[in-house]
Amino acid sequence: MILATRPAASPLRGNLTPPGDKSISHRALIFGCLAAGETRVEGLLESEDVRATAAACRQLGMQMRRENRAVVLRGTGGEGLRAPTGELDMGNSGTAMRLLAGVLAAQPFDSVLVGDESLSQRPMMRVVSPLREMGARIETAEGGKPPLRIQAVDGLVGIDYASPVASAQVKSCLMLAGLYASGRTSIREPLTSRDHTEKMLPAFGIPVGEDCTVSGGARLQGTALRVPADISSAAFFLVAAALVPGSDVLLNNVGLNETRDGIVRVMKAMGADLEVLDARESGGETVGNIRIRYAGRLQGIDIPKERVPSMIDELPVILALAAASDGTTRLRGAAELRVKESDRLAVMARGLEALGVDLTEYEDGMDLTGGAIGHGLVDGAGDHRCAMSFCVLGQVADGPVEVSGCQNIDTSYPAFAPDLAGLGGRVHRPAGEQAS
Ligand code: S3P
Repeated sequence: MILATRPAASPLRGNLTPPGDKSISHRALIFGCLAAGETRVEGLLESEDVRATAAACRQLGMQMRRENRAVVLRGTGGEGLRAPTGELDMGNSGTAMRLLAGVLAAQPFDSVLVGDESLSQRPMMRVVSPLREMGARIETAEGGKPPLRIQAVDGLVGIDYASPVASAQVKSCLMLAGLYASGRTSIREPLTSRDHTEKMLPAFGIPVGEDCTVSGGARLQGTALRVPADISSAAFFLVAAALVPGSDVLLNNVGLNETRDGIVRVMKAMGADLEVLDARESGGETVGNIRIRYAGRLQGIDIPKERVPSMIDELPVILALAAASDGTTRLRGAAELRVKESDRLAVMARGLEALGVDLTEYEDGMDLTGGAIGHGLVDGAGDHRCAMSFCVLGQVADGPVEVSGCQNIDTSYPAFAPDLAGLGGRVHRPAGEQAS
């Protein structure tokens, strides 16, 4: 699917509540599925990735109904999970596959987790190896890739695991498996990744100790949750408003968890006029409204390596921002970008080069020097975040930018194009493009 952009003709203005946080929405569904009784979730993201998790949870016995603006989940806590009758299709979602693998690896029934073309290329040994250490029986396709064929087991044993990667998906997978294992399970990681699992489990009555320690045998109890707006979706408007002269945009109720707020810090360091208003606690997470005003061209920076996990999903749009800022931006320590929904370093490098940006790609990052943004055709390569980043950059190009490979924007932000247009951005689906 193609989206066509034109340079913005006027400032971006207005206010918007971006859609619900994807990471938190997946966890709300999975924990609600495991819990005894009902879990009421407000603000759940409605997107393809979250729908994949919801569908899998229903195949495992969860019931789900809408009540006004909330979704009410009836968990399986009482009788336990039901063996699925077919394969569980995780679509494009690595989070869905890796977190559910932790749950299913501990069950007394077989299951198979499959995904789309992109997910089928993503590394699963990072969860399969530690799960096997816990006693799980899992087969992968060649190269440690999906599908995951999980066999019934009699139980798992807890581990103390030092993860080689900073990954919330690995950490959360093992914590979930740990709930079904004997003894205690703890996980350490080289840098702190997003901590939504640690923050949300206590709301379901599960204590979490230092090093993400959980004890086997604890059972989740249904609760009420409120999902904040996703900072990873807000990021596109933060960058668009920082780039388009005269812009003034207010983004409401955005999750500002400090393991996720790297983009706010980086943009401030680049000189953005970005203000957090009314910061508050909501359901264990910090949320706030963000006002962003155009402040002239921003300045490139060295992105601190140790902060990379706190902006891992925002790096494509941060690279787009750097491309239209002054000076050089250096990114290192971001090799994980190569194993996301696409090889995001390569996809961003090719797209930015197509728009005339001067850059050098490294195995774990890139150096790029900002300048004028050209026009033409760029490929989002079926990666939602790269595709949206190019649409944002198109707002300050010197002519039309056509972004191909936009179909997976629906995995995280189905209303992205109308929302950007609603603030005054220029993006549309060319006539003749079929709905996907
Ligand atoms: C996520 C963790 C991150 C992130 C992904 C969502 C999560 O992946 O990139 O979009 O919800 O736990 P890793 O854990 O692999 O870094």
